Amino acid sequence: MFKVFVTRDIPKEGLELLKPYCEVEINNLGRSLTKKELLEKIKDKDACITQLTDKVDKDFFEAAPHLKIVANYAVGFDNIDLNEATKRSIFVTNTPDVLTQSTAELAWALLFACSRKIVEADKFTRAGLYRGWDLYSFLGIDISNKTLGIIGAGRIGQAFAEMSKGFKMNILYTANSKKHDFEERTGAKFVDLHTLLKESDFVSIHTPLTPKTYHLIGKNELSLMKKTAVLINTSRGAVIDEHALVESLENKQIYAAGLDVYEKEPVIEEKLKELDNVVLLPHIGSATYKTRIDMSILAAQNILDYLDGKIPRTLVNKDILKS
Ligand code: GLV
Ligand code: GLV
Repeated sequence: MFKVFVTRDIPKEGLELLKPYCEVEINNLGRSLTKKELLEKIKDKDACITQLTDKVDKDFFEAAPHLKIVANYAVGFDNIDLNEATKRSIFVTNTPDVLTQSTAELAWALLFACSRKIVEADKFTRAGLYRGWDLYSFLGIDISNKTLGIIGAGRIGQAFAEMSKGFKMNILYTANSKKHDFEERTGAKFVDLHTLLKESDFVSIHTPLTPKTYHLIGKNELSLMKKTAVLINTSRGAVIDEHALVESLENKQIYAAGLDVYEKEPVIEEKLKELDNVVLLPHIGSATYKTRIDMSILAAQNILDYLDGKIPRTLVNKDILKS
């Protein structure tokens, strides 16, 4: 039988789909496996459902000579060496679409939290410091009629922008190419990064992490932003130079930042945790009950597509089809 290894327990819905056709082994330890444990487990496997915390590199592929498909339980796939996979004719798939709305909604949650100091105000209230209505307490910034800058107008970036409709915002975006449908739906304007950073009141990052987007936002880019601007990141931490961001927040060069992702997860710059003008979340963009189930089903469907002799529905390394 076709052997599948699941590197960490995922919602049962996807696993149930696989079980009639595959022998499914799941790591139920409640933690990620060490590299050594993982390489041992995949020795005889035909397929693997991985998470973004698993490094799927040359060593991984060499340890699994029977491997035919890696279904990553995430939309991002910067944890996988695609060239190595393609070279070995191993399919790599991800879980796009099903998590688009949830992730865009979380970006909005961060935007609200930063603009209205929700987390700081909650801490204050719990600490018993609320002594009655105060005119000057927790003054924040307005969202309506402001300029929203989207870095990377893919599925999530576009969904995030569309959610701004009720706030009547002016939308700017950067992307690899102009998106005509998106512009028609939202009135968004395609600009260069420099213009976007200078003119936006809110900047939200939705690019994948690639060599091109690594440290896309560094000291120089942060210095272009308005003093009243808010920066949101729900994509990958390393798109921002975290050290430069700390400096910019410390010096109040921008108003606030809302982060769901970090450069060296789970390690976070110590200084970030001391600042009041930043909201920190533990990488929960897709963390809703429904989305996590849908991700599980989609990962399984990709493996079943492969077993049916079809092209896996959310194949990432499409180059594999040319060879
Ligand atoms: C989460 O970060 C994902 O890429 O799905
Ligand atoms: C990210 O990959 C997206 O879907 O926008």
